[in-house]
Amino acid sequence: MSGDDLKLLLEQAEAEISTADAARIEALRVSLLGKNGAVTNLLKSLGGMEPEARKEAGARINHFKTQITDALFARRAVLDEAALTARLAAERVDVTQPPRPEPTGTLHPLSRTVEEIAAIFGAMGFVLKEGPDIESDWNNFSALNIPSHHPARAMMDTFYLQAAPNERPAVLRTHTSPVQIRTMLEWAAKQAAGEPVAPIRIIVPGRTFRADHDATHSPMFHQFEGLVIGPDITLAHLKGCLIDFLRAFFGVPSLPVRFRASYFPFTEPSMEVDIGWNKRTGEIGAGTDWLEILGSGMVHPNVLANVGIDPRKYQGFAFGVGLERITMLKHGINDLRLFYESDIRWLRHYGFAALSPASLHEGI
Ligand code: PHE
Repeated sequence: MSGDDLKLLLEQAEAEISTADAARIEALRVSLLGKNGAVTNLLKSLGGMEPEARKEAGARINHFKTQITDALFARRAVLDEAALTARLAAERVDVTQPPRPEPTGTLHPLSRTVEEIAAIFGAMGFVLKEGPDIESDWNNFSALNIPSHHPARAMMDTFYLQAAPNERPAVLRTHTSPVQIRTMLEWAAKQAAGEPVAPIRIIVPGRTFRADHDATHSPMFHQFEGLVIGPDITLAHLKGCLIDFLRAFFGVPSLPVRFRASYFPFTEPSMEVDIGWNKRTGEIGAGTDWLEILGSGMVHPNVLANVGIDPRKYQGFAFGVGLERITMLKHGINDLRLFYESDIRWLRHYGFAALSPASLHEGI
């Protein structure tokens, strides 16, 4: 092939390359530079030439090859650049747009109640304790002075776990009171070991279980327990603590609180605690009706003796509150089952912003 022919071929090729798209570029590369391409065939033809002519033709062909390679490279760069520009334009983010409201989660009302309780009792010097859901029969019943014939122990009220032969079955705790026992046992053991101990002042929120199911009862529900033990704790402390708690929790500084004689095997004397409300409107602190809120009493001397605390040296009080119940009353929730249904609309309505923790100084 003469120099002029090659020049013509180069011009044609360059013209074609300059308008080719990406697929066409690849096809041109194969037809010009590939194994059976024009350049390869030209190089093959050198074999039959005289050395002088071959040298000259070889140089021309190599120049042609370089030109083609450069042209392909340049066109590909132009195409890549254009593709990138198009993509950047397509994926452009308008940073001036207002943010879309993202669906955020809320704090479950029961969690909120636990936070509020922790804030109120925390300010009175209580610490938070927890215990396991599965309890021994002794912690849940016997140590709490609940006799073996007590109806609460019946299969129809309590979930029992399968036990090994000759062993007492474990139970799903029916109240948070077994954590009283655990705490007092630890305390008594420390004291027996000569370690210094401060008076016990705990609150215990947690899950509890009873074989019960209807609109106001769930087989799993929540309670929180309170326990105070010291050398000089009296019924006056119990009353003061609970009146302060109820007034802070319901946000009614003058909330009427009534203590009514009652019975629990693990307290003596025992008292049910009522608050004043309007039964018809549901308004807390108004009206002339009474509503039972919690159980309480002075820890029974038998219970203290059961955990190795001398009832002649120490005494104290305990109380237990249904978490769902006080949460329902405070927020006007009328069906207990909704607490556990994870209905996102319900949670959005009754839930709380996760980042505004309960604190006393703003009012609970
Ligand atoms: N454990 C009792 C209940 O579940 C409540 C309670 C706790 C009463 C502590 C008195 C003292 O009903």
